[in-house]
Amino acid sequence: MNSPLANDGLTLTDAEFRMFAELIREHAGLDFNESSRFLLERRLARRIRELELGSVSAYHYHIRNGNSGSDELPNLIDELTTNETYFFREYSQLRALIDEIIEELQLDREKRGGRPITIWSAGCSSGEEPYSIAMLAREAGLKPGSDVHVYASDISRRMLRKARKGIYREASFRGTDPHLRDKYFIEKDRLWQISDDLKRDVDFIHLNLLDNSKIALLRTMDVILCRNVIIYFNIDTKCQVVRTFYEKLRPGGHLLLGHSESLINLSTSFELRHLRRDLVYRRPLPGMASEDPWNIAAAAAIARSDHDGIDK
Ligand SMILES: C[S@@+](CC[C@H](N)C(=O)[O-])C[C@H]1O[C@@H](n2cnc3c(N)ncnc32)[C@H](O)[C@@H]1O
Repeated sequence: MNSPLANDGLTLTDAEFRMFAELIREHAGLDFNESSRFLLERRLARRIRELELGSVSAYHYHIRNGNSGSDELPNLIDELTTNETYFFREYSQLRALIDEIIEELQLDREKRGGRPITIWSAGCSSGEEPYSIAMLAREAGLKPGSDVHVYASDISRRMLRKARKGIYREASFRGTDPHLRDKYFIEKDRLWQISDDLKRDVDFIHLNLLDNSKIALLRTMDVILCRNVIIYFNIDTKCQVVRTFYEKLRPGGHLLLGHSESLINLSTSFELRHLRRDLVYRRPLPGMASEDPWNIAAAAAIARSDHDGIDK
């Protein structure tokens, strides 16, 4: 039986919920479970109403087989991603990036053959994160393009359109020094348009972090920021994405996660690095496996949980 489509939303049957949750997990890694079932229902209902399809099964058919079906999955993903972000979020980490990581890399410029430092903001949403990096790089006297190259990607086409347009509301500036806002944006009717120069500092790419064939086309990076993105994945997907980051980082390259995130139970391939302003992860240089006690403790914890799993 089709699930009812009430005026104010819809209720998925258990089978429908499993069907959609699996589709979304397979495609984008997003993990919907019982606690987020209501959210999935609400957002599916919005799409179904917009398309005037009338039932969940009609919508599922539309995605899988309909005439324009191949276009609908990205629209659904746009509905389902959480895109919350703002300029200079987790500021102390961005300072560590500029003042410590990039500064150190600049000293090694000759070893890199003079090529720019490559930075990837993976899961950049509407662009506030990579533009913050570009602003701080400029403020530190670095030349975008020749000193640093900022790449930014997201699975949401809607967010990438917003990022490329570069027009922001006041809420995006809640962590921004007004001096920087006035320097890099032009205000019109309480909306702020980013300057053309800064816009050119960031290369936006549409990219699903599960799409290894497309990720293979990216160059290797000196720094990857993936902040507040993998929290929406289940543990297997998190491990897969972290492995991808390891492959994509140059040996000695840094991985910066959100402050509430860590690699515990996900990977022991990285070493933890204590910077003055933050703790970050680093892909070890060859032959320089980490002796960091935190890593050893984490590895031991993982080994213990594996062992517990076997015993059960
Ligand atoms: C909460 S935002 C984080 C934005 C920014 N990194 C920050 O910390 O402010 C999470 C972003 O991850 C993106 N995302 C989720 N799943 C993704 C996937 N499989 N591939 C690429 N991006 C994804 C979402 O579209 C969303 O824009």
